[in-house]
Amino acid sequence: MATTEVKISPDQIQASRGGERMPDPCIVVIFGASGDLTKRKLLPALYHLDQDGLLPKNFAVVGVARRPLKDEFVNDMRDGIVRGGGVDAGDAKLTEFLSKVNYHAMDFDDADGYVRLKTSLESLDKKYGTNGGRLFYLATAPGYFAEIIDQLGAHGMAKSDKGAVRVIIEKPFGHDLHSARELNDNINKVLSEDQVFRIDHYLGKETVQNILVFRFANGIFEPIWNRNYIDHVQITAAESIGIEGRGPFYEKAGALRDVVQNHVMELLSFVTMEPPVSFGASPIRIEKIKVWKAVQPIPIEDTVRGQYGPGTIDGAPVIGYRQEDRVNPASNTETFAALRLEIENWRWAGVPFYIRAGKRLAKRSTEITIQFKQPPLLLFKDTAGTSKCGNIQPNIISMRIQPNDGISLRFAAKVPGPTMQSCPVDMDFDYATAFGVSSANGYERLLLDAMLGDATLFAHRDGVEATWSLMTPILEGWAANPSKDFPNYTAGSWGPAASNALLARDGRKWRQQ
Ligand code: BG6
Repeated sequence: MATTEVKISPDQIQASRGGERMPDPCIVVIFGASGDLTKRKLLPALYHLDQDGLLPKNFAVVGVARRPLKDEFVNDMRDGIVRGGGVDAGDAKLTEFLSKVNYHAMDFDDADGYVRLKTSLESLDKKYGTNGGRLFYLATAPGYFAEIIDQLGAHGMAKSDKGAVRVIIEKPFGHDLHSARELNDNINKVLSEDQVFRIDHYLGKETVQNILVFRFANGIFEPIWNRNYIDHVQITAAESIGIEGRGPFYEKAGALRDVVQNHVMELLSFVTMEPPVSFGASPIRIEKIKVWKAVQPIPIEDTVRGQYGPGTIDGAPVIGYRQEDRVNPASNTETFAALRLEIENWRWAGVPFYIRAGKRLAKRSTEITIQFKQPPLLLFKDTAGTSKCGNIQPNIISMRIQPNDGISLRFAAKVPGPTMQSCPVDMDFDYATAFGVSSANGYERLLLDAMLGDATLFAHRDGVEATWSLMTPILEGWAANPSKDFPNYTAGSWGPAASNALLARDGRKWRQQ
């Protein structure tokens, strides 16, 4: 069963995305530019913004990395834009865009490199008319974040003297509460909080932003969005991919740090926060932090960890985590995490939230499921047994973050025929069908917002510390008691048996994805 679709033309979407939002002239300086992120996400996103007329005319990109690249870098970026951005390699607009892409080789801890970088940026200011505006993007290994910011400060590049100077910091932001605090303290010695943009690309996803629109731009959901009507909430962030050659990174991270502390906690806050007084950075951050602070400490018995062994994905055999390149063959790193938490506030007290995230699961699916309570009087319980659909099922709102972005509402409907039988049906909203476009990768919106100085969709230091406060005791509990049964799930399954048991304990089960 489908909703009536409102067709919106690409031009209308363009107009609503563009509006008056035009950043001031600036140079985007990407540290760690030889990494995958720059080529696969950042440059395609910047190119699309440029094509959509959302970047200023006076604009340039400088990639900074250790290796002595030059033309090679520009060619690599061309390749990334063509592959990642669905662009024709010979496109004249692409060549014009690439004429603004430059490269600077230096070691991130070499003071002389920063002296040269400063001079080079100043001469690019003259060439491109960028007037001192800077957006530094730290896409390096996290160990360099504090050093780079320190050096920018020491070399007079961190102050907004002429144009605005802002810094985007990639994840992971710390590896526990202590390190996140330390990093925040170091950053704030050089930069004011309004210059810092801690990125979580989930916040750039249309479907994630739409959670707020769904909740707060519709009158009918908010009255039932609480413990009186909601039985429980599930958040699944399942990936079928493995660690994709990122062994050394993942060995230190694991699923809880990599995805739960940031992406999943952001999803949780959007689903549970109180209505902010306005759609601005500060009101939204305040409500998010309030809800994270209301999450009760998570007992270790309410957590599950897993690691995938060999298995099959899409009919093809895949290796186990311990066999991956540059992974310890006896590794104890978790590639799956599940937990049950409760939010002790007026709206949510007593409602369990179940979260799971993992690699090499049966399929890619990020979804939020709101399961409502059964109606008090099961009027049709006697006929349900005779229905081909079995017992009456609760209403469910499911928000598909990806893929097949959309939202569906499940409710019971009478099966046509002479007897009173019901079956669950879905009313479905699908992004691509309704708007004629599928949502972008998130980086476009976030890069544009950072250039505009709009921090609404970025993490604040207090928020990062609040989510680490929740995760750190779990990490410590796990570290104190290394798992003895890894690998404990087969690649291509839905994770370890203990994940199902976590819900079965409460008489519930994971929604089938
Ligand atoms: C990244 C993680 O932050 O998010 C990856 O480091 C993960 O391990 C990715 O695969 C998931 O992002 P998306 O947008 O594909 O859901």
